[in-house]
Order: sequence, then C-alpha cells, then structure tokens
Amino acid sequence: MSAHGPARPLTSRRAGPLTGTAAIPGDKSISHRSLILGALSVGETRVTGLLEGQDVLDTASAMRAFGAEVTRHSEGAWSIHGVGVGGFAEPDRVIDCGNSGTGVRLIMGAMATTPITATFTGDASLNGRPMGRVTDPISLFGAASYGRKGGRLPMTIVGAAQPVPVRYATPMPSAQVKSAVLLAGLNAPGQTVVIEAEATRDHSERMLAGFGAEITTEVTPEGRVITLTGQPELVAQTIAVPRDPSSAAFPVCAALIVEGSDVLIPNIGLNPTRAGLFTTLRDMGADLTYENERLEGGEPVADLRARFSDNMQGIEVPPERAPSMIDEYPILAVVAANATGTTVMRGVKELRVKESDRIDAMARGLEACGVRIEEDEDTLIVHGLGSGGVPGGATCATHLDHRIAMSFLVLGMTTVQPVTVDDAGAITTSFPIFETLMTDLGAQFSADADRVPA
Ligand code: S3P
Repeated sequence: MSAHGPARPLTSRRAGPLTGTAAIPGDKSISHRSLILGALSVGETRVTGLLEGQDVLDTASAMRAFGAEVTRHSEGAWSIHGVGVGGFAEPDRVIDCGNSGTGVRLIMGAMATTPITATFTGDASLNGRPMGRVTDPISLFGAASYGRKGGRLPMTIVGAAQPVPVRYATPMPSAQVKSAVLLAGLNAPGQTVVIEAEATRDHSERMLAGFGAEITTEVTPEGRVITLTGQPELVAQTIAVPRDPSSAAFPVCAALIVEGSDVLIPNIGLNPTRAGLFTTLRDMGADLTYENERLEGGEPVADLRARFSDNMQGIEVPPERAPSMIDEYPILAVVAANATGTTVMRGVKELRVKESDRIDAMARGLEACGVRIEEDEDTLIVHGLGSGGVPGGATCATHLDHRIAMSFLVLGMTTVQPVTVDDAGAITTSFPIFETLMTDLGAQFSADADRVPA
C-alpha cells in the first residue's frame, strides 16, 4: 500500500530529447510556513502559488483543526484567517500529517507553548521517523510529549501553560528543528535563541520577519545565532510562493543526462540556503545557465536553462554544502551514475532519517540497475558509468518516498533497459504534476509493470 491507496508501479524508459518549458509548482517549505504563520497571524493572509501537494494539504487541514479559517479560492490561491499568536484552539481530532516531517515538526513547535493538547500521527514512513529532535527542545519551553518508543508518532503533545524562553543549539543541521523552536518561541515571553553550527534553509527567519516578528541573525564563531522576541502580534501578509528548486531539480537533472535535451525552467528561487545542487552540477561540468537573474520578494530568482551535458565528471561534493542541497542527493546520485568517474557525497547522514533512509534506498536501487556503490553511515559514493551507460532493467523500491520515486524515474530515461518504481504514489506529496510535466517534455512513462529483467 502507498500512503493513499494501493501501490502504483510505474516504468520509465529511455526517452528522446527533453525539450520545452517546465512550470514548476510552489515551494513546499514556503507553502507549509505560509499556512502556519498565516494561522498564527491576525487578519487575512492571502497566498498565491501555494503548492497543492498532499503534504501541504495536510498542513492546511491541521491549521483548520487548530482554529484557523483556511479557504482555497482557485488553483494555488488560498486565504487564511489567523487566530493570532497563542490563539490556537485544542483540536477535537487526531492531527494526521500524512507523509510530512516538515508539517508535523513545525506544527508541534507552533502549538508547544499554548496550553492545549494535540495528538499527531502520519503514514508508515512518518510514523517511523524520529521526533525526539523536536520534543527535546520543546520540553525546555515546558511542553510534555507522550509518544511511542524511540520518540515516534503517534504522539501527544501537551503545550506549556507557562512557557519560558529557550536558548537552544541544534544538535544536527535541520531547518525543521530550528523552525520548530522559533515557532514555539513565538508564544514564550522574552527572547528565544537558536544557534545553528551550519546554515540551513532560512525561510522561517525571512517569513517571521515579513509577518512582523522581531528576529535577528548574527553570524558568530559558534554559528548562526538567531534571536526571536516572543509574543509579537503577527500581521497577515500577502505571499507569492516562489517555485520549488527541489522540484525543479528533477527536470533540470533529466535534461542534463538525456541526450539532445534543452529545457527552460522559469522563475526558480536561488536562495543560497537551497541552491547547492545547482552549484554542484555546474562543478561537474553541467551546461546549466541562469537566465534573467533578478530579485523577487527579496529572494534571488532566475530562469534555469539545462542542456544535455555528455561529459560531466564525478566530484567530491563539499560536505559543508550538504544542508543547502539535502533533498537533492538522490537525484544527484542519478546524475553521478551518468557521469564519468566517482562522485563522493560525505556528511550526509541526515539522509538516513528522511521519508526513507535515502542512502540505502539509492544504493540498493542503483546497484540493482548495475551501478557500483560504496556507502557508510555518513557517506554515499557513486561510480559513474558515463553518459547513457547505466544498464537499468530493475524494479526499485521507493519506501513511500517521493524523491526516491522521482529519482529512479529520471534514471530510467537514460538506461539501456527500462526502470520500474514499485510505487509512484508518494510523488503527489510534493510534485503532483510530475508525471504530466515530464511527459510533456518528452519522458516516456507507462503504468504497466513491464520491466525487462536485468
Ligand atoms: C525542510 C527541511 C529539511 C528538508 C525538508 C524540508 C523544511 O529537513 O529535508 O524536505 O521545510 O524546513 P531537515 O530540516 O530535517 O533537514
């Protein structure tokens, strides 16, 4: 079973050139935050370009359960009547966050300093992921949590009746943890401080400032010190959600490795805390250009143009770049398999606690397709077979993980024999139009499990 029904196998076969223009949906991280911050504001927040993937729809339902009025007007156009900081009502039902680690962790933070109780659950993937990384810091504010062994969902959080502000150094590079602490800090008196040794995506900081919170970031020898003054009145905003660079990664990488391709992907956010993949691809020799570079809503944006690049070279990805491309390692591994030489990805153990263990999922699937892999707890090494050199001919397990499914479908566009994914269902969590968008560019997908044995 996939998250929302029976498993849906899908096969991808070597495609002709990919050509055309790809309109990518809204950014998932910013979409979640728009709903949550809108719900914590006074007045009506209006959002355009909201990603209507299942993860974000689950966050929208959750915000309704906490008392916000959330309305869909037309595709991507939503409004949220917020309840104000500290105004969350106690939900009268279990909050089901589906597949979304970002959704559940940010919402747990957002409710942790309000004296209400809420119970959270998710699908089999989410219920296997660690929540201690959020319940530890929210306990410092005074919240209590009761979950399964290992800090897993389903879990009940009892919000603090008299929250105290917190100073917290995140033990792992995680924007979700940072954001959960900042959202909890909203309803604590005084200053809440989060220190992160490595910079992770900074959408929460930017958006909290945009909603009127007093928040500063100082770069110090111990890392980025983010200070939030609690109990602000957040003011409703009008938000145009930029297009998601993590979704753009799939057609970009497909165009780079499918012979003869030339694809334009307009309007992609290039926030430096998100754009590590594009830098890495260019380091490998990709013909990837930024056209029409500009600033939109304070964020750097460009149109990406990706053309087939038949002599990309494997590289050692600088480990300090990992947080800025953490969701892109699976698709980078696919590019690496089509490059010449070895690509070394170190400092990536966070991949083991994503929607699946992404090091394991990519290693097993690539091996099944004939690619030599080395791995350890914190490392993935791919020995490239050169452009079009991957045999393929396997069925790859996706473990309810959208990015694993999309990565292997892109791989199948280049392989000698088709590649099947055991379940494409999870793709709807982040990129519901992936199949039509890729097919319009020239991809060949078929629903019959017609794989050719290796
Ligand atoms: C996200 C943060 C990242 C990322 C996830 C979205 C966010 O997770 O993998 O897809 O919106 O804050 P971590 O913060 O756990 O690395």
